[in-house]
Amino acid sequence: MTPNQYLSKTKDKRYKDLFKLLSFPSISAKSEHKPDMKNCAEWLKGELKTAGFKAKVYPTGGHPLVFAEYFVDKNLPTVLYYGHYDVQPPEPLELWKTSPFKAEVRGGYIYARGSADDKGQVWCHIKGLEAIIKTTGGLPINVKFLIEGEEETHSVNLPKWIKNNKKLLKADVIVISDTAQFDKNTPSVIFGLRGIAAAEIFVYGPDRDVHSGGFGGAIANPVNVLCKMVGQLHDKNGKIAIPGFYDDFKPITKWEKTQFRKLPFNEKEFKKSLGIPALHGESKYIPYERLWTRPTCDINGITGGYQGEGAKTIIPSFASCKITMRLVPYMKPMDVLNKLEKYLLNIAPKSVKVRVNKMGGAMAVEVPTEGPWLDAAKRAIIKGFGKEPVFTKEGGSIPIVGDFKRILGLDSLLIGFTQSDCNAHSPNERFRLVDFDRGCKTATALPFELAKVNL
Ligand code: BES
Ligand code: MN
Ligand code: MN
Repeated sequence: MTPNQYLSKTKDKRYKDLFKLLSFPSISAKSEHKPDMKNCAEWLKGELKTAGFKAKVYPTGGHPLVFAEYFVDKNLPTVLYYGHYDVQPPEPLELWKTSPFKAEVRGGYIYARGSADDKGQVWCHIKGLEAIIKTTGGLPINVKFLIEGEEETHSVNLPKWIKNNKKLLKADVIVISDTAQFDKNTPSVIFGLRGIAAAEIFVYGPDRDVHSGGFGGAIANPVNVLCKMVGQLHDKNGKIAIPGFYDDFKPITKWEKTQFRKLPFNEKEFKKSLGIPALHGESKYIPYERLWTRPTCDINGITGGYQGEGAKTIIPSFASCKITMRLVPYMKPMDVLNKLEKYLLNIAPKSVKVRVNKMGGAMAVEVPTEGPWLDAAKRAIIKGFGKEPVFTKEGGSIPIVGDFKRILGLDSLLIGFTQSDCNAHSPNERFRLVDFDRGCKTATALPFELAKVNL
């Protein structure tokens, strides 16, 4: 039996067990889910053992991670597979057609939180490698797995764990499937991810909500003030107005510019897929440049005052918002956060108190666009997808990728299997069945191609 025949033969179980993986509400952001995190990690450990790996759950100070290993021969390449079992909060729940933690197949998609980001993609590799082990009696390379539980909360504890476990993690290259394909029928290899910096802004007015008739006009309204302040984060051309924000920014190369301009972009389809009337942003850049190569500053949530039924005439005591900024090479998260704080405190009126909580972030990353590892990945993708991948960047972040380079000196192969309409972080997250299949096939081909690389 070939590995691909094994995948077909065990299809029902492959789905059933994926559904089990998707049933753990492993929401890293919420402390009430701590036990679910542990249970999910332990379950994954068991699955990796069944597949033929030596596996262990490690504490990190935050949520635990799963590490697994299949050693064959020290003269073969060692490949470290990275992924995450934590997921984003599923809210708003009322927008889900079916329960986020009860996977369901509908119209050619698996619907569940984590189906695309990232449990479904991790599953492709576990099952792909299992297929090789069970049909050939081993693997053509040494494999290590690192599946963490804090990616969606900035991987805060992982860098330290990596520093303390350098020997355990010794490898030649990293494989990550946590990104999307270019489009429904075009796989992609990603050569750059944006970085991120996160902050929370608090605006304090009167020490309690007060009558807006009795006090309005003579005291500042924290919600009005916050809105006015965040309204000054961009200039009229969409450029970020924080002084010094672009200091470390380096424009993209000519090659990148040409590469991105060759890619098709269907504006009509894009708008339709999101239900938006028009695009937004810096008009001198094409949409791909805006998405992948320009920094951003976005409010993720804003709150303050009365939101209940009917009207309530108050000046709220307090307002706050969460902000994330997407960064491009060589912008430094802490530096950018300091500049944001300085700017906000500077533009804040004297009539309120403003506090900025700087939560940290990760730098943007770029990985090689050529070389033997990449050629191997390309060949595996052609086997799995029947089509050559295109080279693109991604606007999202995978915080640990930069640390892998800085701490372990390793580059990552970013070969994702989902689609940009997979609803990651949104209601009704989904993984297309065809892509799950292609992903598993790529995963069975990849070790054989990586084995051909001369060390
Ligand atoms: N899988 C995503 C990264 C991603 C997003 C890749 C979009 C390709 C396209 C990852 O799980 C993610 O969501 N990362 C967070 C990191 C953050 C919480 C520090 C992100 O980008 O918001
Ligand atoms: Mn992810
Ligand atoms: Mn995510």
